[in-house]
Amino acid sequence: MDGRPKVLISRSIPQAALEIVARECQVEVNERDVRLTQEELIERLLEKEGLLCLLTDRVDAAVLAAAPRLRVVANVAVGYDNIDVAEASRRGILVTHTPGVLTETTADLTWALLLAVARRVVEADRYVRSGQWREWGLQLLLGSDVHGKVLGILGFGRIGQAVARRGMGFGMQNLYHSRRRASPEVEAALKARYVDPETLLREADFVSLHLPLTPETTHFLTAREFSWMKPTAYLINTARGPIIREEDLVEALRMGRIAGAGLDVYEREPTLAPGLTDLPNVVLAPHIGSSSVETRTRMAVMAAENLTAALAGRRPPNPVNPEIP
Ligand code: DGY
Repeated sequence: MDGRPKVLISRSIPQAALEIVARECQVEVNERDVRLTQEELIERLLEKEGLLCLLTDRVDAAVLAAAPRLRVVANVAVGYDNIDVAEASRRGILVTHTPGVLTETTADLTWALLLAVARRVVEADRYVRSGQWREWGLQLLLGSDVHGKVLGILGFGRIGQAVARRGMGFGMQNLYHSRRRASPEVEAALKARYVDPETLLREADFVSLHLPLTPETTHFLTAREFSWMKPTAYLINTARGPIIREEDLVEALRMGRIAGAGLDVYEREPTLAPGLTDLPNVVLAPHIGSSSVETRTRMAVMAAENLTAALAGRRPPNPVNPEIP
């Protein structure tokens, strides 16, 4: 009889990660690569001791209650707002995530969106493809300079700091706000000035969000905050959609209260607020911040290592609730 722990992998994952789990566990994989419904998740978790899941899986109290043998939930993401961690802890279930490995890749995409929206790269691409381009024009597709501007970073953890480091390369002035102020060494190295959120929003030419999603950060930006921003300012969000009240953002963009937005995340993914796709001054990506071959593989391998360590009674390298024995 196979005594290895039974685990569910909720979506297909890179082979390297699958092999790590398969060496030590009896694995059931959702090969369809489509999100399991809550009913399917509950049904498939019944006998399982481990779950390796993605941020599209809502591991809520009902799911946890229906999985009496569950010991570990390994999320393939740095964010874990899809998991009811308090309830998991109450049930003695370890939760793990994948910090660090996606920092630079997500900062790269942040910059891709920032540059794309400021320099109208997507509009320009459509313009050329549609055959509208007749000749060079002095005033054709005028955008905004990026170099030398003020970059305001809300949330100054690993990714926020990686974005600031890139900002220095563009000769930008870095402002930031974070729950915890960075050390003087970090501030000096990144030439970053700590300010309150309102000052940041009023002074920045580019506002980039890098906050975790929590009850405190939900709807952190609404019509009021957009009214503080410069009409020439751009907003970039590669963190979590619900940090912004999306309908207010659509209105702010439509009315020209801010100049544009580069978005990778949305309030109700994959549904977008009405009117968002009609706006020319937005660049939209489908939550691909960490989506490079290297990084997504590293994330899945890290989650697999967290899962197998916990099931073998070893300390997983990246616990979210380390108080669980
Ligand atoms: C995360 O890890 O939280 C991202 O949103 C997906 O890479």
